[in-house]
Amino acid sequence: MIEAIKKRRSIRTFQAKEVEEEKLKEILKAAMFAPTAKHCRSWEFVVIRNKGTIKKLSQTKPSSEFIENASLVLALAADETLDPLWIEDLAIAAAHIYLEATNQGLGTCYIQVRGRFTSKGKDAEEFVQGIIKAPKNIRILCLMPLGYPAEEKPEHQEEEFNPQKIHQETW
Ligand SMILES: Cc1cc2nc3c(=O)[nH]c(=O)nc-3n(C[C@H](O)[C@H](O)[C@H](O)COP(=O)(O)O)c2cc1C
Repeated sequence: MIEAIKKRRSIRTFQAKEVEEEKLKEILKAAMFAPTAKHCRSWEFVVIRNKGTIKKLSQTKPSSEFIENASLVLALAADETLDPLWIEDLAIAAAHIYLEATNQGLGTCYIQVRGRFTSKGKDAEEFVQGIIKAPKNIRILCLMPLGYPAEEKPEHQEEEFNPQKIHQETW
C-alpha cells in the first residue's frame, strides 16, 4: 500500500513552524492531479496565510477553532456553474491534499463547511465566503489547515475495519 495512505491521520494541533512554499506547491499540485467530472477541473484553492484571516476562519464552527494555530489554511472552493459534481471533484482533491501533506511530513484535517453552521447559527459557507471575498458562484466545500504536526497519532490498523462492509457480487 502507498505509505501515505497508511500513515494519514487528521491532525488538529500544530507547531509554530511555517510551511515552506515548496511543500505547499507540491500539495496544491497533488490536488490538481485529482480526477474531475468531465475533466472540467471545477476546483479553486484559496491559500490563507494571514493570521488575522485565519483567526476569523477559525470561528466558522465550533470544531474549527483549532485551525487558529495552523501555518496556513486552504479553502477548497469551486465554480458551481461549471459542473453539478463540484462536490465530488473537491472531495477527491481533499483526499489528495491529505495524502500529499502526509507525504511532506505535514498535518491537515478536513473541516466541513458546506451545510454546516457557525456557533451563532449563521450558514458556515456564507461566513467563509464573506471572509475570503468569494464571488456568488463560488461554493466552499471545506477548509483544510496545514502545519507541522504537534501530535502523533498511530496508524489505523486493519483489525479496525469491518469485513462485512465488503459485499461480493450482491448485497
Ligand atoms: C466529510 C468529512 C467531514 C469532516 N469534518 C470535520 C470537521 O468539521 N471537523 C473536524 O475536526 N474533523 C472533520 N473531519 C475529520 C474526521 O473527524 C476524521 O477523518 C475522522 O475522525 C477519522 O480520523 P482520521 O482522519 O485521523 O483517520 C471530517 C472528515 C470528513 C471526511
